[in-house]
Amino acid sequence: MDAREGLWMSIKADFTQGFARNHWYAAAWAAEIGEHPFARQILGEPVVLFRLPGGGVAALEDRCPHRLAPLSMGECADGGLRCGYHGMVFDGQGQCIGIPGQDVIPPTARARAFPVAERYGLIWLWVGDGPADEGRLPRIRGHGEQGWAVLDQGYQHHRANYRIEIENLMDPAHTTFLHKETIGNQAARNIPVQVAQSDYGLKAYRWIENVPPTPLDQKSRDFGDSRVDRQVAFHFELPATSFVDIAVIPAGMERTDENLMNGGLRTFSYKFLTPETHRSTHFFWLHLRNYRQADTHFDAGLRASLEKTFQEDNVMASAIQIEQERTGLRQRTGIAIDRAPVMALRMIDRMISQEAAVSGVRQDA
Ligand code: FES
Ligand SMILES: [Fe+2]
Repeated sequence: MDAREGLWMSIKADFTQGFARNHWYAAAWAAEIGEHPFARQILGEPVVLFRLPGGGVAALEDRCPHRLAPLSMGECADGGLRCGYHGMVFDGQGQCIGIPGQDVIPPTARARAFPVAERYGLIWLWVGDGPADEGRLPRIRGHGEQGWAVLDQGYQHHRANYRIEIENLMDPAHTTFLHKETIGNQAARNIPVQVAQSDYGLKAYRWIENVPPTPLDQKSRDFGDSRVDRQVAFHFELPATSFVDIAVIPAGMERTDENLMNGGLRTFSYKFLTPETHRSTHFFWLHLRNYRQADTHFDAGLRASLEKTFQEDNVMASAIQIEQERTGLRQRTGIAIDRAPVMALRMIDRMISQEAAVSGVRQDA
């Protein structure tokens, strides 16, 4: 035995932990669902999304009840989704409404249907058996309100378990090092991260005070000779929503809600994480800002910069995923910045065990 073993801490990486199912998860951008069926694996379930004749979106298990052919290999036809193997047709509820060559439809000719909701340009899917309550859809601040520019349609496929992604998103300290060329801020490197409960769940935040505005800040709003205070707050909301709230105001300005909203620059950067499998995550992103609203050139540059930043996270998270699988460990030491990620993971664990207690079974997927 290694003499130092007693000094090592080790937290196991457990990829058998289930997913919380009785929640809305982002499944696709509405614009992705066109005239052809669209396949996506959500929480380990193969799902096919498709347009109904009236234009709405429906979601079914991506398996025909006949021979389990993926329904996504079929087409939108005959008033529903037609299987590409023998032509059985299913409506948005998964009920078979036609079988070529026979009139009788057996009662077993059904595919599982998932409740869907469309909001903020996203299709949300309810995977669990509990009642799908649209009141529980995430709320996006500023969306649809005057004065806000929205960048949407953001999607990346990340090759890591969603818990690794959430640890990353509750960790403002990594930005200085991992995102040197994009959002990293050297002025922040030694400023401790505070953690607090927020209206949305949990936030990890810090104020970077009395620093010169960045060139980008200065281009977005004239701060004159003033220095600025910058708030960066990383919020986590169950089951898997993150948003980063950035406020830049003249240094020393009182931090009232009004000043934070209108005294300088305000940004909300949302990510909706949807587990695909235990080792991969759908990473949907949407970005709002209350400055340079009608500047399409700025939009394009910002989109490219965000895509690059999130890919940097993906590269790191997927490398960590590989090491966790190789070792069976999540970490071997702890530091102060772990506090918010650990709290967020505990919130997830509690949510999963509460759900399991209600359903009486462990929700593995
Ligand atoms: S497998 Fe779908 S109709 Fe036969
Ligand atoms: Fe990051």
